[in-house]
Amino acid sequence: MTTPMLEIRNLHVRIEEREILKGVNLIVPKGEVHAIMGRNGSGKSTLSYVLAGKEDYEVTDGEVLLDGKNILEMEPSDRAVAGLFLAFQYPIEIPGVATMTFLKSALNAQRKARGESEISTPDFMKAVKEAGKALHIDADMLKRALNVGFSGGEKKRAEILQMALLKPKMCILDETDSGLDIDALKVVSEGVNALRGADRSMLVITHYQRLLNHIVPDVVHVFSDGRVVESGPKELALELEAKGYAGFDEEQAA
Ligand SMILES: Nc1ncnc2c1ncn2[C@@H]1O[C@H](COP(=O)(O)OP(=O)(O)O)[C@@H](O)[C@H]1O
Ligand SMILES: [Mg+2]
Repeated sequence: MTTPMLEIRNLHVRIEEREILKGVNLIVPKGEVHAIMGRNGSGKSTLSYVLAGKEDYEVTDGEVLLDGKNILEMEPSDRAVAGLFLAFQYPIEIPGVATMTFLKSALNAQRKARGESEISTPDFMKAVKEAGKALHIDADMLKRALNVGFSGGEKKRAEILQMALLKPKMCILDETDSGLDIDALKVVSEGVNALRGADRSMLVITHYQRLLNHIVPDVVHVFSDGRVVESGPKELALELEAKGYAGFDEEQAA
């Protein structure tokens, strides 16, 4: 069997003495797009933060392997160098730093950590222009401070642009659909779909089924009370929409 891109084994996590993740098991093979669906408060964002290495979370048990390498002991920046990318549910604003500057610094930091040379300004401009076109991002938006005063759709597009430039091998998208109208949702989904490939895996976290009409997953996992309670083909998302999360909670309790 080939090494999965992401393997989560029995992950238990606490915040302030309270257990939020209660034994998450999940495997995302290379090149596949998996979705996690679960009601608000079930621990989806906590999972994405723990994977990215955010502080304040206490891992009490379990392992997370990225392409076979245990990442829980790694700093967030090293996880990014190893190919992990997280698009946050609430992208942070960075006043005073133009989006373009931020993107170039992020890209060069990774290149440096990998022992590669800095990208030249013309090459960078070309790459941004190309990736930005598909996402309907123009030069004016790139001159503005990152996420400051951006609409919901602009924030998500800026994140997907960052993803397109960094070329991560494991992308985690947390509620990428939140705050998007249908047109913005289409643009963002097309941007994500353009990045699908044999060497890249994705974990798409969402509360609603509608995102999965645009980013069609290979596998859907149902998340409830801090763990994956059921996994199945994409049709599982429709079943979930029809039945509601309560149906799955009952199955779990039975
Ligand atoms: N920083 C925190 N301190 C205390 N409790 C938290 C913190 N972050 C999240 N929680 C709690 O953890 C649970 C899971 O939250 P979250 O991971 O955001 O769920 P989801 O993304 O599925 O809506 C919720 O009950 C939430 O109140
Ligand atoms: Mg969340």
